[in-house]
Amino acid sequence: MREPHPRVVLGLHRSRYERRLLTSALELGITAIDTSFNYRDFGAHRRLTEIGGDLLPRFTLSTKVGFFQGTGRVEHSLDPGRLRLALEQSNRDLQRVPDLVFLHNPERSLREAPDARDTLAQACATLDDATAQGLCGSWGISSWDPSSLPDLVDPTMLKPSVLMVRVGLLVGIRTLDSADDLATRWGLQADSMWGMSPFGGDARDPVWDMLDPRIFLRHQGSSLSRPQAAFRAAYHLPQVGTLAVGSDNPAHLRELLDALDSAADEQVMLEYRDLLRDRASRQPA
Ligand SMILES: NC(=O)c1ccc[n+]([C@@H]2O[C@H](COP(=O)([O-])OP(=O)(O)OC[C@H]3O[C@@H](n4cnc5c(N)ncnc54)[C@H](OP(=O)(O)O)[C@@H]3O)[C@@H](O)[C@H]2O)c1
Repeated sequence: MREPHPRVVLGLHRSRYERRLLTSALELGITAIDTSFNYRDFGAHRRLTEIGGDLLPRFTLSTKVGFFQGTGRVEHSLDPGRLRLALEQSNRDLQRVPDLVFLHNPERSLREAPDARDTLAQACATLDDATAQGLCGSWGISSWDPSSLPDLVDPTMLKPSVLMVRVGLLVGIRTLDSADDLATRWGLQADSMWGMSPFGGDARDPVWDMLDPRIFLRHQGSSLSRPQAAFRAAYHLPQVGTLAVGSDNPAHLRELLDALDSAADEQVMLEYRDLLRDRASRQPA
């Protein structure tokens, strides 16, 4: 029996926020979008309702809170009151309840928090309360650098429904291992794991001309292009069931969807992680 397809979410971090993108995503069968309170200079939610308020009910919508407009600069905060206000504002601006709300890069504030464990626990409780009160369908954690988080999680801490982490061939072993460690501590299986940024935000970076990601796929990816293979391999570095990828180009999105039928070579993935670990162990601390 064929394994079910991994899921694709259209990430709107770098998006031009054009209606055409939403309609083409739906035509392609992509029915999940990911945005954030702070994207598009804190205007992404309002812009989404402007360009496609009528289309939004057809999508599963995730967003993030944690970054705020400060005086002359963007601030990160896990203050329960600010998180709560951002959630209420998001509901108003989106004119709907988001299906999923992530705590956005909590590691940013936790670095300076006097009691990081308590601060994280309170922030999780704030999103959990908001879920119970109908301000979002569920809550999660999205972390660019999860390395400081596993040590903060204890059995008393509320568990997110989803953990979103950086994925793909440009992610270092410390981040990969921390993401796995964090998932284990929260008891999250791969279907609760989301990946982000499979191209590290830039598929045109020269690094992609220098490596051939097809070696990570069974049958060497047969007929896949390099971006397709990098995208498909990213579901395994670390293991995630859903992946948020950005694109303003429907042809690119179609290409990525076409790659989902290919399978990764698990053995090569393991060997690659061992290589990265071995290299890291030889680097000075
Ligand atoms: N901390 C966080 O929570 C966090 C951080 C970063 C990202 N994210 C999430 O992850 C999503 C994706 O991240 P991202 O946009 O930063 O990076 P990404 O998905 O790694 O890269 C996006 C770039 O890849 C290109 N691309 C996509 N498919 C392609 C293809 N088939 N061929 C060639 N180029 C292709 C796109 O260009 P075209 O437009 O030309 O296709 C776009 O410029 C974000 O939108 C957001 O939802 C979350």
